[in-house]
This record gives sequence, structure tokens and C-alpha cells, in this order.
Amino acid sequence: MIEETLKLELVKKAFEARSHSYSPYSRFQVGAALLTSDGEIFTGANIENASYGATICAERTAAVKAASSGSREFVAIAVVGSEEGSDEQDMAYAYPCGICRQFLREFIAPAGDMIVLVAKTPDDYRETSLSALLPESFGPSDLDYLHRE
Ligand code: THU
Repeated sequence: MIEETLKLELVKKAFEARSHSYSPYSRFQVGAALLTSDGEIFTGANIENASYGATICAERTAAVKAASSGSREFVAIAVVGSEEGSDEQDMAYAYPCGICRQFLREFIAPAGDMIVLVAKTPDDYRETSLSALLPESFGPSDLDYLHRE
């Protein structure tokens, strides 16, 4: 569990991160802010590519920043996404795509879950969890046989 003030901070940082979206092809701008178990917050935006399939979502940008900085236990992530230039009335809750759900799954704290916040405005968000978005998931422990003698 995390405090409401921290959730609002994550949502605010996701909005700030969205402003750095590089999305000239879809013009759909996404920002994410990820809280790790050591209390650090990593942000990310979607970064598109002229070879469309090489695009990286905001959630994975944030996840890779965290994991490559040595923070590999994710507690919560806030996500905001909408068309470029949209104002508050146009905003819808943008949930993480399937690839991002699986990517985040890798870094759930042991015996934990990850809070997922999706927001329309800095103070209008919904809360769910990664286990709700990705039930019966496949994760590192499914490969434990690799470590057996
Ligand atoms: N996108 C994200 O950044 N996160 C998601 O979970 C869904 C989609 C981005 C990818 C692409 O740049 C744009 O949104 C439209 O698909």
C-alpha cells in the first residue's frame, strides 16, 4: 500500500513525462511514472520510430530506466495517454498494452503485486493492479527449473 499523496505525485510525474513523448506518427502521447521499492521514481514517455515496430511504450521506457539503474522491484506505476493537444475533457484512461503488462510482470516485488494507476487529469485517476490486468501470468519463477541441479 502507498499513500494517496504518493499516488498523486506519480500521476503528476506521469503527466510531466508525457510532455517528452516522441510520437510524430501516432500523435498519441503517453507518460509513465514508476515507483520502486527503494522509493525512487523513474519516468518515461513513448518513443516512436519511422520503422513503427521499433516503437517503445512509455511504461517500458520507465521500466528500462529503473531496471538499468539497478532498481528491479516495482511497487506502482502511473500511466497517462491521449492524443496530442487533447484537453481534459478529451482524456480517457489509457491502460498499459499487453507487451508492457508482461514486461512489468518481470519486476513485481517478491510476494507482492504492482499498483497500476491510470489517469485522466492530475487528480482523476483509477487504480487497479498488475495481477488484475495480467491474471495467471508467466514470470521468472516459471523458469526455476533452470536453477535446479
Ligand atoms: N503506447 C504506450 O506508450 N503505452 C501503451 O501502453 C500503449 C501504447 C504508445 C505506443 C505508440 O507510440 C502510441 O502509444 C500509439 O500506439
